[in-house]
Amino acid sequence: MAVALIVAAGSGERLGAGRPKAWVELRGRPLLAWSLDAISRAPSVTRVIVAMPPGHPDAGAALGDGGDGSLDFVDGGTSRSESVRRALHALGRDDAELVLVHDAARPLLSTALAEAVIAALEADSGADAAIAASPVTDTIKRAGRDGGAVRETLDRSELWSVQTPQVFRRPALERALDVDPQTLARATDDAWLIEQAGGRVIVVPSPVENIKVTTPFDLRLAAMLLAERGDDAPGNPA
Ligand code: CTP
Ligand code: MG
Repeated sequence: MAVALIVAAGSGERLGAGRPKAWVELRGRPLLAWSLDAISRAPSVTRVIVAMPPGHPDAGAALGDGGDGSLDFVDGGTSRSESVRRALHALGRDDAELVLVHDAARPLLSTALAEAVIAALEADSGADAAIAASPVTDTIKRAGRDGGAVRETLDRSELWSVQTPQVFRRPALERALDVDPQTLARATDDAWLIEQAGGRVIVVPSPVENIKVTTPFDLRLAAMLLAERGDDAPGNPA
């Protein structure tokens, strides 16, 4: 069993929609609603906490909190991991051992993928975290920030493009997030914080379809992929 934290507090600057990305419309619903539905349908998830952009008090009404206490909203922080930390704090004394973290920016999440990542961590008692990722298909080279001369070509056979969901043992995640704000701000995912602390993180192969919506192109692609699913139900296996 797991609790889920969805981070949705970002401003969506690169999308440039003039409002927080979580509220941008995707096939007639807020972008956040898609992954919230997929996670809410996961049999292993007992509770969901969403980190929201401050100033959206009616989130529960807009997204349907069911009124059964299994969905809560908290204000997010100034960095992604700070938002994770706030949502985790809101969990209080809940006795869940596993914590699933998901970016609202990935609306193509399927219930099946959430369950698969939880199951992978449950099956590996020595691991602190299990993370969804897909194999890199492009050749990756290291160069300067603005291009310029290539310094290195990486061995693609060992490279993974990391996504969410990421599932953690709760004490390991709490320890990993207990760092200064600068370190939190540097973390592009929470698994990195576990790695920094010497923890063991395992990769769970996931569909490349589980894209992150960052730019207007990604939003178009997400709409097409959701349309292709046919029934507008985010619970289908990807
Ligand atoms: N996020 C968050 N709190 C923050 C920053 C980001 O909860 N302070 C969440 C976003 O809402 C998103 C996920 O982290 O679901 C991944 O972040 P990203 O894709 O960078 O979203 P934004 O920060 O909103 O986009 P941008 O960086 O373009 O402003
Ligand atoms: Mg961001």
